[in-house]
Amino acid sequence: MGYKVVVAGATGNVGREMLNILAEREFPVDEIAALASRKSLGTEVSFGDKTLKTKDLDTFDFTGWDIALFAVGSDATKLYAPKAAAAGCVVIDNSSLYRYDPEIPLIVPEVNADAIMGYAKRNIIANPNCSTAQMVVALKPIHDRAKIKRVVVSTYQSVSGAGKEGMDELWNQTKAIYNPVDDVPPKKFTKQIAFNVIPHIDVFLDSGETKEEWKMVAETKKILDPKIKVTATCVRVPVFVGHSESVNIETEDFLDWQEAQDILREAPGVMLVDKREPGGYVTPVECVGEYATYISRVRQDSTVENGLNLWCVSDNLRKGAALNAVQIAELLGQRVLKKG
Ligand SMILES: NC(=O)c1ccc[n+]([C@@H]2O[C@H](COP(=O)([O-])OP(=O)(O)OC[C@H]3O[C@@H](n4cnc5c(N)ncnc54)[C@H](OP(=O)(O)O)[C@@H]3O)[C@@H](O)[C@H]2O)c1
Repeated sequence: MGYKVVVAGATGNVGREMLNILAEREFPVDEIAALASRKSLGTEVSFGDKTLKTKDLDTFDFTGWDIALFAVGSDATKLYAPKAAAAGCVVIDNSSLYRYDPEIPLIVPEVNADAIMGYAKRNIIANPNCSTAQMVVALKPIHDRAKIKRVVVSTYQSVSGAGKEGMDELWNQTKAIYNPVDDVPPKKFTKQIAFNVIPHIDVFLDSGETKEEWKMVAETKKILDPKIKVTATCVRVPVFVGHSESVNIETEDFLDWQEAQDILREAPGVMLVDKREPGGYVTPVECVGEYATYISRVRQDSTVENGLNLWCVSDNLRKGAALNAVQIAELLGQRVLKKG
């Protein structure tokens, strides 16, 4: 006996990956429903070797369904996730709507799997921001060994993090640069993204930081340890898929870079590729379609007493979103629902 699973947002970047990953990992599915907005009614999406026709989220009855993976953005989540949860279906949500709610667990299974039991308060579990997910996978084993005090992170985030419209904008602007007849003004992004970088993701806050930067701080504290100080600069780059991060870490205890490599080599969800030679590191195009969070360029930061630098790359649609959500569903299955 398997699960009745709903994927809401099945026509989007993350929803499509959710369907791919459920099939790839042979999640025990008895029945699956692909949902999107009414305008996409009947749109075909793939689930392994099957084709599903999308249904309308607005009229869908969640009664009798076990798990709903949501990837529809905060506004639609606000309308439909409580409906699903009230019908007894456990929601695993990718939007930022519930991430900071103390009654809702925010989970990266490699880091805080035990938080799963908190799902019962609201029947909702939150999935973190893409940049946070990959970073905490890398930080957890270092924190366990040497206690992290402070993290300074700069991100290089791909356009797929801004949904399918973000990918279209990069593609169309890039073409327009070679064929200047077409003018593709910025729409999804605030400035030209093709052949450019933009130091602005999500809205500005009074503090001068952006919401994306604030999310990395708040989510790292909630998932890993509230005592860790984090400061972030989040930048959009003209890469289709795969987020990269330059991470500077200050620890309480000294951790030699070679020991850090050894720890990271063994850490769940991490793949260390760190050869200290040309090409001996991972770049975003190499992580597309992969599950791992790749770590390269591990080295000492000798400007502080106990410091390390590293480079962290992962597929933002996978570990940053769909994979993490499916891992949460697997965890929920193993520890709570126990079917399959
Ligand atoms: N992309 C990432 O790296 C990433 C990482 C972590 C979290 N997330 C979060 O995941 C969510 C989805 O992101 P995405 O990148 O997949 O976006 P996307 O490519 O723009 O897709 C959005 C999906 O949501 C559906 N949708 C939107 N409004 C809806 C409504 N009112 N009713 C029903 N369906 C609706 C869309 O359906 P239609 O096609 O019918 O419009 C589409 O299937 C967002 O909350 C995002 O913040 C994304």
